[in-house]
Amino acid sequence: MAALTPNHQELAKQLAAQAAVKLVKHNDIVGLGTGSTASFALSALSDRLKDGLQVKGVPSSLQTEEQAKALGIPLLPLGEVGEIDISIDGADEFTEELQLLKGGGGALFREKIVASLSKNRIVVVDSSKKVSQLGAFKVPVELAPVACRYVLDQLATLGGKTQLRHKNDTLFVTDNQNYIADVDFGLIADPQALAIQLNQIEGVLAHGLFIGLATKVIMATGEELVVFEQDQKGS
Ligand code: A5P
Repeated sequence: MAALTPNHQELAKQLAAQAAVKLVKHNDIVGLGTGSTASFALSALSDRLKDGLQVKGVPSSLQTEEQAKALGIPLLPLGEVGEIDISIDGADEFTEELQLLKGGGGALFREKIVASLSKNRIVVVDSSKKVSQLGAFKVPVELAPVACRYVLDQLATLGGKTQLRHKNDTLFVTDNQNYIADVDFGLIADPQALAIQLNQIEGVLAHGLFIGLATKVIMATGEELVVFEQDQKGS
């Protein structure tokens, strides 16, 4: 697939986000993702609110919470919500089998909770995110600081080359006061098996492999939309 120019990529993100927001229904509880594509969805949702749509949003990060508040989207706190009707979030990589790699923005833990609570999980991406195998993007792993050394050693045992994420020369700290290790496993032959192994490490709060957590991927390539759904290769 031909690479998108930065301008086209922004337009594609916006187009995918707008298409996803059309799926939101009156009175829905809406999971609000994090990242530049999810941010376009927030703007599109606030436009629909101006047209009379009523929803409650559930933010997946402090950054998203701030943007949603500024846009006047009524919110519910993630920790108090038992079910979400529809969530809209981005991804760093996805396959036609709807496997996702997420967490480039560091919000993976809350994003995974939002996705797990959601009946309808919509992923919005531009075409640069489509891969045949996950793993060119490093797998983010959110870990409790007190377990840092232990978790890094365990990740190395699984064959990962780990790097603690930094921002402005200091350790990156998530909204949940944890660290993130970005782990290079190379191309991942069996993401589900790796996800299970990562889940078993004490001290790992979440990892960026989202398997079975997408209902639909809406991908924009230029001005064209391609939709990937469960049990379907694309339409
Ligand atoms: C945030 O932690 C991530 O999971 C984002 O959803 C992902 O990085 C996609 O972000 P963009 O839409 O900015 O590419």
